[in-house]
Amino acid sequence: MKQFFSDGIFLVAKFIKKKITYILFMKIETFELERRQSLWENFVDYNLTESGIHPFTLEELLNLDQLEELFNIRIGYGQTNGSIGLRDAISNLYPTSSIDNILVTNGSAEANFISIWSILEKDEDYVVMLPNYMQTWGLAQSFGTNVRPFYLKEELNWQPDLDELKDAITSNTKMISVCNPNNPTGSILNGEAMNCIIDLAQDVDAFIHSDEVYRGAELDGKEIETFYGKYDKVIAVAGLSKAYSLPGLRMGWIVAPEDIAAKAWAYHDYTTISPCVLSQQIAEWALQNDKREMILTRNRKILNENLEFFLDWVETRKHLFSFIPQKAGAMSFVRYNLDINSTELTEQLRKEKSLLIVAGDCFGMDGYLRIGIGSEKDYLLKGLERFAELLEELIDS
Ligand SMILES: Cc1ncc(COP(=O)(O)O)c(C=O)c1O
Repeated sequence: MKQFFSDGIFLVAKFIKKKITYILFMKIETFELERRQSLWENFVDYNLTESGIHPFTLEELLNLDQLEELFNIRIGYGQTNGSIGLRDAISNLYPTSSIDNILVTNGSAEANFISIWSILEKDEDYVVMLPNYMQTWGLAQSFGTNVRPFYLKEELNWQPDLDELKDAITSNTKMISVCNPNNPTGSILNGEAMNCIIDLAQDVDAFIHSDEVYRGAELDGKEIETFYGKYDKVIAVAGLSKAYSLPGLRMGWIVAPEDIAAKAWAYHDYTTISPCVLSQQIAEWALQNDKREMILTRNRKILNENLEFFLDWVETRKHLFSFIPQKAGAMSFVRYNLDINSTELTEQLRKEKSLLIVAGDCFGMDGYLRIGIGSEKDYLLKGLERFAELLEELIDS
């Protein structure tokens, strides 16, 4: 009887432990930004949630010989860390790297996931720049790490508060994570901030994880420096979804020290095994110097033209909005002066005007909206007309 009783307690304790472990380590925060996009982006008349630029068609991107070459590719698994040709093309973007520093992934989302999953352990400190894309912020929490944010401040022109950053670092800091150029503000870290991040990481021997997927989409055409090569524990992430406007290829990558790239590859065996061979071939062509130049020039033109239009749109409503224009990327992060919560406002826009934009709430920043300006101009114009209609109705009511 006594034995039966103690066995019972043991089983109950085991059950509770399993439940607590599940709650602590498996429960994920809803990824609000992606969830709302996934639910609604294909069911509205105007989707201005995109942070990327109007995508290419294969016909616009490739010549006939290349298209024919695609027909003949055998659709196998390929080299699972990425073909040599593609890794070579990627490593050309990072002067101090070789193909052994590169892991090709399915989108930079997978590259971010593997960077966090393969490096961070429970109870270690993860210092992260906010606002941010929020993927690694959410993931790091689900892995049981201590997430310690530091903030980009509007009053600092969306540069980080370096004192706050210093305060966030401890001897337990395993990784400092930045998004540069930043999503959602489109800001670019200045030299002082970059150096400070490197010095602080060095002091505590932490990794720097730098999501640079918007690098190449600078409006002034001056490509920013990567963190890679500035310190020996940098994991840089990028891909073709944003600056190159090829999100459907799902091409991303990690550039890291050789041992870290090898470790990430072993983790990749557990996620998607390999990137798509067709996408890899197209990516390799897209990264050839002349093609790359063509893509980035086309995109910069779209961004600059649309931003000029958007600035006028905001200017005529300057009593309602304040806005620091982005330095890179298609996202315009505006503060609004209306007495309504950002999620409520975007829901109203979706339901009443069939227009989707991103609420500041998705970044923990109510009072702001992220508006994608990378679409074709006419589409952007019509989407903003719908927004203007609702604004007038709200003011009249
Ligand atoms: C900063 C940042 N990183 C990563 C991603 C994921 O992009 P993808 O997986 O399409 O390359 C996004 C998507 O919006 C992003 O904004």
